[in-house]
Amino acid sequence: MTEPVSPVASPARPWALLAELTHACPLHCPYCSNPLELARRSSELTAEQWADVLRQAGEFGIVHTHLSGGEPLLRDDLEHIVAAAGTAGLYTQLVTSGTGLDEARLAALTGAGLRSVQLSVQHAESRANDRIAGRPTSFAAKERAAALVRAAGLPLGLNVVLHRDNLDAVDALIDLGVAWGVDRIELANTQFYGWGLLNRAALLPTREQLDRARETVARRRAELAGDVDLVWVVPDYFDGVAKPCMGGWGAVSLTVAPDGTALPCPAAASLPDLDPPNVRDHSLAWIWERSPAFGRYRGTDWMTGPCGSCPRREEDFGGCRCQAFALTGDAARTDPACALSPDHALVRELADGGRTEAPPYVYRRPGAAPVPAPARTAPT
Ligand code: SF4
Ligand code: FES
Repeated sequence: MTEPVSPVASPARPWALLAELTHACPLHCPYCSNPLELARRSSELTAEQWADVLRQAGEFGIVHTHLSGGEPLLRDDLEHIVAAAGTAGLYTQLVTSGTGLDEARLAALTGAGLRSVQLSVQHAESRANDRIAGRPTSFAAKERAAALVRAAGLPLGLNVVLHRDNLDAVDALIDLGVAWGVDRIELANTQFYGWGLLNRAALLPTREQLDRARETVARRRAELAGDVDLVWVVPDYFDGVAKPCMGGWGAVSLTVAPDGTALPCPAAASLPDLDPPNVRDHSLAWIWERSPAFGRYRGTDWMTGPCGSCPRREEDFGGCRCQAFALTGDAARTDPACALSPDHALVRELADGGRTEAPPYVYRRPGAAPVPAPARTAPT
């Protein structure tokens, strides 16, 4: 598909594509950032459609694609999609729970050109892992998957979403990563979108838990001294500092959802008036350079309130639009995570509030979520 795009005033091109191949998943993690309304399998792009998206991505200058979900291994045609990404000149990373990865499948994927794997783990202890994942034996599957990936000689990263029920196990999680031979451990404090927002009361840690975990990470970084890359994704509810979400809206990467919806970030489907484009209807170049959805919060011109005149606005881009919407009902407001936001009390109260007994998880399953209440609309 070719649509006219003027090079004049075009934004810098993206370098990464998050390809959400399916929302189907054998795990049911309560912190999942996928939308509450999960895309149906019948609505998914075909392998041919993904091949076209990936070809366009390569031509557009994108260099890296994360093949994600849900669980991308549930796509029988994943090998074709990996091969198409390779043909397009993209570096491919499989983002997986490890469930369903056996030697033959990994051989097929590496044969198709897969370059690296990121494996999720929920806890260092198998029973706790399986409780959080909502699936028995999932820890054993991860352990097997890690061994297979290392034996295949692929770079392996571990991704751990941190929350109240595993922050006290950070030391053990780092030990686990070292024992599994990983190159990188991403310790990502839960971002409260989608199912994570729905389960926030169950997942929100205490400030003391975070302080202990932060100290542990600093100590282990010094001990591991570059052998394993330890990444700490900040808990923005607690720090008073807005995160530079996605490196800026429409700045460095884009997401394509299973049904072809193109989004500036994985959670942007939650913004009710965004009207995101679809790769079935438009070229990636048009989507990036011309679509109103990608231009909506790009740069700094749209900013109002404290961001409009803030010296940090080119560094954190006013924080996260999806979080601003989720907490205030207005995606254009300053992210309440920022201490300068007039809405900061919304997150401070949550961060400093006493913890009562955690409610049970609402596990991520199609149809399991109640209809979300409308977000609170902030006063102007
Ligand atoms: Fe960032 Fe806006 Fe806060 Fe300034 S006011 S630090 S730009 S979120
Ligand atoms: Fe959407 Fe931050 S998650 S802008």
